[in-house]
Amino acid sequence: MFSKEKQELKRVPMMPVRDMVIFPQMMTPFIVGREASVRALEEALAGDKRIFLATQHDASVDDPKPEEIYTVGTLANIVQSVKLPDGNIKVLVEGAERAKVVQITTDEGCFRANLRLVPSKIEGTPQTEQLISRVSNLFEQYVKLSQSLNYDTMIAAVRVDDPGKLSDTIAANLTLPVEDKQELLETFDPVARLNRVAEILEVEIDKLNVDRNINSRVKRQMERAQKEYYLNEKLKAIQKELGRGEKNEIDELKKKIDTAGMSKDVKEKAVQELKRLEMMPPMSAESTVSRNYLDWLLAVPWKKKSKEIRDIDVAERTLEEDHHGLDKIKERILEYLAVRQLVKNPRGSILCFVGPPGVGKTSLAMSIGRATGRKFVRVSLGGVRDEAEIRGHRRTYIGALPGQIIQMMKKAGTVNPVFVLDEVDKMSMDFRGDPSAALMEVLDPELNCAFTDHYLDVEYDLSKVMFICTANVLHTIPQPLQDRMEILRLAGYTEMEKLQIAKRFLVKKQREAAGLTEENLTFIDDGITHLIRHYTHEAGVRNLEREIGSICRKLARKVVKEGRDFKIEITPANINDFLGVIRFREIWAEKHNEVGLATGLAWTEVGGQVLGTEAQLMEGKGRLTLTGKLGDVMQESAQAAMSYVRSRTSQFGLPKDFYRHLDIHVHVPEGAIPKDGPSAGITIGTAIVSALTRIPVRCDVAMTGEITLRGKVLPIGGVKEKLLAAHRMGLRTVVLPKDNEKDLAEIPPEVQSTLALKFVETMDEVLQFALERPLEPAVVSPVPEVAAKYEGEIEKDQGLTN
Ligand SMILES: Nc1ncnc2c1ncn2[C@@H]1O[C@H](COP(=O)(O)OP(=O)(O)OP(=O)(O)O)[C@@H](O)[C@H]1O
Ligand SMILES: [Mg+2]
Repeated sequence: MFSKEKQELKRVPMMPVRDMVIFPQMMTPFIVGREASVRALEEALAGDKRIFLATQHDASVDDPKPEEIYTVGTLANIVQSVKLPDGNIKVLVEGAERAKVVQITTDEGCFRANLRLVPSKIEGTPQTEQLISRVSNLFEQYVKLSQSLNYDTMIAAVRVDDPGKLSDTIAANLTLPVEDKQELLETFDPVARLNRVAEILEVEIDKLNVDRNINSRVKRQMERAQKEYYLNEKLKAIQKELGRGEKNEIDELKKKIDTAGMSKDVKEKAVQELKRLEMMPPMSAESTVSRNYLDWLLAVPWKKKSKEIRDIDVAERTLEEDHHGLDKIKERILEYLAVRQLVKNPRGSILCFVGPPGVGKTSLAMSIGRATGRKFVRVSLGGVRDEAEIRGHRRTYIGALPGQIIQMMKKAGTVNPVFVLDEVDKMSMDFRGDPSAALMEVLDPELNCAFTDHYLDVEYDLSKVMFICTANVLHTIPQPLQDRMEILRLAGYTEMEKLQIAKRFLVKKQREAAGLTEENLTFIDDGITHLIRHYTHEAGVRNLEREIGSICRKLARKVVKEGRDFKIEITPANINDFLGVIRFREIWAEKHNEVGLATGLAWTEVGGQVLGTEAQLMEGKGRLTLTGKLGDVMQESAQAAMSYVRSRTSQFGLPKDFYRHLDIHVHVPEGAIPKDGPSAGITIGTAIVSALTRIPVRCDVAMTGEITLRGKVLPIGGVKEKLLAAHRMGLRTVVLPKDNEKDLAEIPPEVQSTLALKFVETMDEVLQFALERPLEPAVVSPVPEVAAKYEGEIEKDQGLTN
């Protein structure tokens, strides 16, 4: 409990202090300079060394009046005093007791005070003990947070169990405004004071916590900013050292923009971008994006042009030099070049070469580039399914680039190259947009003067480019695209033509590529023909060229081993020394006539093809099964063929309901190649009839034609490709629809002379040529055991379905 005992002191020397409050228990050093203070100090030193210290209200007042000093202060013992050279005195005092002023006197040039001491001892209670431990904890936290106090001394200092002493020690060490400290000094009840200290500590701890968070955040930011600044400055210094000042770079870009020959709009855009670039910190991510963009704008050609060769005779000579044969195609190309010279923007003026692989589509396009003095670039559209591949991605995408068209224009470096779009037929379409729509904009002469790439984002003029497309087949090219093209078909070569091509071009090319000369290596004609017949199986000459190349490489090794004089002549006899055993022995004509096996001619992506078509009968319920990767149209034409057969039972000597107890399986081998189209109709019909009548089909007769339900034969496409294939495979007779007779004009004479062509109008005629012997109306059921079974039975007609 608070002691009521009162103790009074008279005329104690008193000193006003500024800017601080002295607490009991507190050791405080300070400087004394004011005259009155020095006098009071001297008096105290002369006496019992006790002095009363009280804080003045306003620190800036030099000569405070008694009423300008707080009336509660601390009676202190002077521990030490040192006179300084400048006349001031440095003292160290230790607060002893709280005291309240009763009266102040100011005689003899200093303050003296009559004081009443404030007693501090109280009896401890459990509550005060709790309070003490709480405050001690709080203070410990406070010391940890505030960096100005020494942890160990402070913790030692507060290890007291007297609430008055504890509160005074803590109060003395807190960083608080003078008014707050004075208020604590004037709170006489120790428990109340300790409570107040606890409150203050809580607030201060909160403040320090906030401070600390802010500080560490600020510090982190400062560190990062400083680091970046430092690195940037360093980089600049390095660049300067290397002579690549930023300023130069911007100037250089500006100069390039001025001389690039851009249109007004494009130039405006470029200048605008340059301005933005200038404002950006040089190493930032966005400045890289901006620079890349400017680099692209400057890299695509805007006005640079190759000087075109306009002499048609030169063009003719060049085409002739590069390719053997292909006379019709060359003629069309020359006409096309002539028209392009006369008319500025001829409609539908995109050439499109269609044909099997290796027939020279790409190399013809290259040759056109050479013939007209233009640069040559090529992009393959095979598998392109995303519009962005053609037209690019917007610049907002990370890592965006222009599309293929602009990339290739950059590669060409001129505004008028020959631009080959390879494999337009292999383009597909999905949710990412339709690339053929973008391609249309490229190819349409009315649109392509303002082609927009998403990345460049400015109009680009493609109208001076000569576009040439290549494709293996036409039907997968979207019609609107086809409409803009002038289609030139390359069907493939005859054996004679291949021989000539090999002699004139391929051997020379491959020999040179392998570093050999004519002295080292020659091919006799028979050798090449042997190669064509037994090592390749194609419409074009790509594999032929590869085989010749592989012979050349093997010889190169020999030449290196045996010396430059090594010489060899390639003949049919020594080819297998280089290429191993022959690969294609099976020539169609060497086969046997068989029941249910007819020879068809198909037109696929790799050119004309000879395909055997098999029909097989089985005991069953009238199903028609078709296998061999056949398309819908082909399936339907098989059904038409079946219906035709059923309508002619009497002619073929079959019971009317023969089909009810039979399953028919039709298979077209070489299952990997997808086949479609109606042209296999008569072949399937022939195979089925042969299987039913058990009359073998002639294996040297090939056929192609669409069949109707009534047995009429309709015309088909790809006659040239198919006849070339028949010729290649050594077949003797080909049955064709009468309406295809007009196509004869484009068939090479050597093919016509080796093949007997039979033009027919009905299925009956087909069978006449194809079956080994004429039909005999008297023949009975083809499968006697089956016939016996169903004799007399009345079964529900299931019809023929597949
Ligand atoms: N008539 C020809 N005269 C000379 N060389 C030819 C002839 N036809 C093709 N070639 C040569 O055959 C090779 C293959 O031709 P190219 O690459 O042009 O075929 P392609 O028709 O483009 O085939 P793909 O459809 O596979 O692209 C080339 O080296 C080419 O020079
Ligand atoms: Mg090609």
